[in-house]
Amino acid sequence: MAEQKNILSQNRDGVLYLTISRESKLNALNYNTLEELNNIFNEVNDNKSIRGVILTGAGEKAFVAGADINEIAELNELNARKFAEFGQEVLHNVESCHKPVIAVVNGYALGGGCELAIACHMRIATANAKFGQPEVNLGIIPGYGGTQRLTQLIGRTKATEILMTGDMLDADEALKLGLLNYVEPTKDTAIAKAEGILQKIMKKAPLSIGMIIDCVNAVYTSGENGYQIEANSFARCVKSEDYREGTKAFLEKRDPVFKGE
Ligand code: COA
Repeated sequence: MAEQKNILSQNRDGVLYLTISRESKLNALNYNTLEELNNIFNEVNDNKSIRGVILTGAGEKAFVAGADINEIAELNELNARKFAEFGQEVLHNVESCHKPVIAVVNGYALGGGCELAIACHMRIATANAKFGQPEVNLGIIPGYGGTQRLTQLIGRTKATEILMTGDMLDADEALKLGLLNYVEPTKDTAIAKAEGILQKIMKKAPLSIGMIIDCVNAVYTSGENGYQIEANSFARCVKSEDYREGTKAFLEKRDPVFKGE
């Protein structure tokens, strides 16, 4: 994995730990950080040594406090569209990554930070986490897919309220709304929880995990026939060595050993 300036990355036993590291700016996503995130996720899919990703923010105060407002303050109509489209592309690459991506939300997840968290496949928050889409306070709206994903995730009623008021939710409220998988007391316990989930997933056939991600994403992609994608993915699994190993191991009453082939 190429060295990045604003994102620390470490592969430990198949789990890629990514830490957005602009702590003095509450890990706000400037263009360079977004570009680094894109470079990383472009590499993750093809890197067989990575079986799952844990994404968090440096420090205890923030996951990501939004897109960098210094850059937002300089936008014009033309580059604003490009700004939004690039952010959407990067978060789409996170969401469609074939390895499970778990956000450990350690503090503020605001604006682009909330959008990034909800582009991940699962979210575990620390008790001090706060979620919100405060763009309306700046005279803009979410531009990295937040209006779409938040509505898909928690439904129109509460999403509209959150998007229009800019109010923050605490971790317990976010859990109740279905925005989170779990709330943990601290960052360490949240990371341990994410590791436990990934350890379970890493024992399964990697191809199946990638196909599940494609099929679930298809539910939310207009113009895609999710049932067709499911049937095609099912057939693709049956062509794999891991399918033969999984079924054989069951019949031989032993644990399967999957190779991702
Ligand atoms: N973009 C750029 N810088 C940001 C930022 C952002 N989204 N969020 C925080 N920062 C910077 C602050 O400007 C400050 O920098 P400074 O020390 O150089 O002045 C530093 O991070 C610490 O933030 P501060 O506001 O002093 O911390 P706080 O504890 O008082 O407040 C927040 C925390 C998250 C409530 C507050 O920083 C905030 O509202 N941030 C903006 C959130 C937002 O609107 N995000 C959506 C952007 S589209």
